[in-house]
Amino acid sequence: MPRTILVTGANGEIGHTLLERFAELEGARIITVDLAPLHADLASKSSLHLTGDVSDPALWARLQEEDINEIHHLAALLSTSAEKAPERAHHVNVNGTLGLLSMARAIGQRRGSPVTFLFPSTIAVFGLPNLETKQAAGRLTEDQYLQPITMYGINKLYCEQLGGYMSDRYGQLLDAQADVLDFRALRFPGLISAHTVPSGGTSDFAPEMIHNAAQGKSYACFVRPDARIPFMAMPDGVEALLKLASADRSRLRQRVYNIGAFAPSAEAIAAEVRSVWPNTDITYAPHPKRQAIIDSWCADVDDSAARADWDWAPAYDQRRAFDDYLIPIISERYSS
Ligand code: SER
Repeated sequence: MPRTILVTGANGEIGHTLLERFAELEGARIITVDLAPLHADLASKSSLHLTGDVSDPALWARLQEEDINEIHHLAALLSTSAEKAPERAHHVNVNGTLGLLSMARAIGQRRGSPVTFLFPSTIAVFGLPNLETKQAAGRLTEDQYLQPITMYGINKLYCEQLGGYMSDRYGQLLDAQADVLDFRALRFPGLISAHTVPSGGTSDFAPEMIHNAAQGKSYACFVRPDARIPFMAMPDGVEALLKLASADRSRLRQRVYNIGAFAPSAEAIAAEVRSVWPNTDITYAPHPKRQAIIDSWCADVDDSAARADWDWAPAYDQRRAFDDYLIPIISERYSS
C-alpha cells in the first residue's frame, strides 16, 4: 500500500513547495485540501483534491474514510488576517485543528498504527513585553516568553498544547486507545519563498520588499528599519517538515521545536535588495499595530533541541538564501 499523505491549505506558500517535493518522492498518494480548487500548476501533484473549509465537519467525515498515514495541516489564517477577523481566525485555526486531530485519531485507531500529524507553529507564539526585553533576551528557547499578543499566536500556542494532549492524554479517564496519533510541531520563523508572494502575515515585509524590488516597484515597508525577527528560505522550511515527519520517534524529546536560519533587521534585508537592484526605492512607513506585533516576536530562536534530536540544520544561511535561491529565481520570474 502506498503511504497516504494529507496536505491542508495546499494552495498556500508552504503547500506549493511541499507538493513539489512530494512529487519528487516516489510512491506516496497525496490528498490535498484547500478552500479553493487546486491551482493548475499543482494539479498533477495531487491524487485527490477536496475543495472545502478545514473547520467543516462534513470535510472531516469525508477525510476519515481515507487511510491517511501523515498529515501536514498547513491551512490557517495568518497573523495580520486574524487581527481583522478574530472570531473567524479562532474558528478556523483552533476548531479546524481540533476536528482534524480527532479525525486523525479515528483513522489511527481503525488502522492500529498512529497517524503522524505535522503542525506548522510559529514565532508568533512568543510575546515579548517590550523592545528592551526583546533585545536583552536574544535567542529564545521553546518555553520562554509564551505570552502572545495576537489571535494567531494564541491559536497556535493552544494548538501546540492540544496536539500533545490529543496524542498523549486524550480521554484519560475514558480509557481511550493510546498511540493512535503522533503530533509534531515546528515553530517556523518568517518564511520567504521565491515562487509565491505571501498574504495576511506580519512577516510579509521581507518577501514584499524583495518581490517588489525585482519588479522595479517602490516599496514602503510597514515596520521600522531596526525591526528584527528570524527568517528562513522556503526550501529549508519544507525540508524541516519532511525531516521532522520522518524522524525516529524515540529520539524526539519534545513535541514542539523551534527552528531558525538567519535573523536580519528590515534594513539588512533592504541592503541585500539594494546590492542587487541599486535603483530600488525602499522607504519606511511603520504601521503602529503591525510594528507592535513584530516587536513582540523574538529577535531570534534557539533551535538547539531540533539540532540535537532530529539533526536539523538549515541549508540556507542569509548569504546562500539570497545568492543561490531568492535572487536568481525571483529575477527569472519577473524577467519575462
Ligand atoms: N508568517 C507568519 C505571519 O506573519 C508568522 O508565522 O503571520
